[in-house]
Amino acid sequence: MTPARLEQLARVVTGRSGLAITEARLPFLRARVRAAMVRAGAASEERWMEELEASASVGGRLWTEFEEALQVHETRFFRYAGHHRLLAEVVLPELAASLEPERTSGLRILSAGCATGEEPYSIAMTVLEHLPPGPGWPVEILGLDIADGALAAARRGLYRPSAVADVPRACLQRYFVSEPEGLRVARPVRDLVRFFRHDLRRDVYLGKFDIAFCCNVLLYFTPDVKQQVMDRLTAAIRRGGYLFLGHAEGITPPAPAFDARHHGAGVVYRRL
Ligand SMILES: C[S@@+](CC[C@H](N)C(=O)[O-])C[C@H]1O[C@@H](n2cnc3c(N)ncnc32)[C@H](O)[C@@H]1O
Repeated sequence: MTPARLEQLARVVTGRSGLAITEARLPFLRARVRAAMVRAGAASEERWMEELEASASVGGRLWTEFEEALQVHETRFFRYAGHHRLLAEVVLPELAASLEPERTSGLRILSAGCATGEEPYSIAMTVLEHLPPGPGWPVEILGLDIADGALAAARRGLYRPSAVADVPRACLQRYFVSEPEGLRVARPVRDLVRFFRHDLRRDVYLGKFDIAFCCNVLLYFTPDVKQQVMDRLTAAIRRGGYLFLGHAEGITPPAPAFDARHHGAGVVYRRL
């Protein structure tokens, strides 16, 4: 693909998806284009581009699959140890103390951009290990992602042994079952987590949350789209709830709506 056409495609992608395709990411885009053209059996670049643009304007399959192929699904169990320490030592005790006993809706946790499920399953393990004994609110963790392939893997909950390197030993023993094909996340953890296809930029969020994780998602967006998603997240977190971000999102939650709480090396934002 010529540099001019690649740049044209980068503009289409940025305009439609909000993904920031900087110069450094052009080789990544080029590689994804090649793979997509082979998959589609495209006769020529020109034709493929025309079809892609037509598909993009109606949200068609060619575009959706291409947009999915542009996503980065890199993730790990317990990716940020500091987040889990904060969750266990600050957030869960504070929430448990503040939730009214008569509340029936339970503790709702969002994993926005959950990829193949490691993040929401890690959250579920920390909750099972550390939620202080109390009136026994039901816990619901929603894993949302735009990529169907990643969501299918998340729902399977089956991982290679190398994927669990950072899982605390106690959680590894309690919450994984060894199977011939790998390690399966155990039923008590899976029962807390549900996965949905959801576009954080556009879809209506699924109710209010006590805790939201949005890690390594916003960094790929343009500044405008980062802000839009941040506004949506802000609206989706109930007052007194908490927001965890990745370490390099390139945006901080707005000061009047959030208060930064530091604990050890970690930081969480409390919705005021
Ligand atoms: C790098 S992974 C982060 C996984 C996990 N949160 C972590 O920090 O380990 C980013 C994920 O965000 C998802 N994503 C990107 N744009 C999205 C959008 N608009 N709506 C929902 N998910 C999105 C991608 O498909 C990908 O699985």
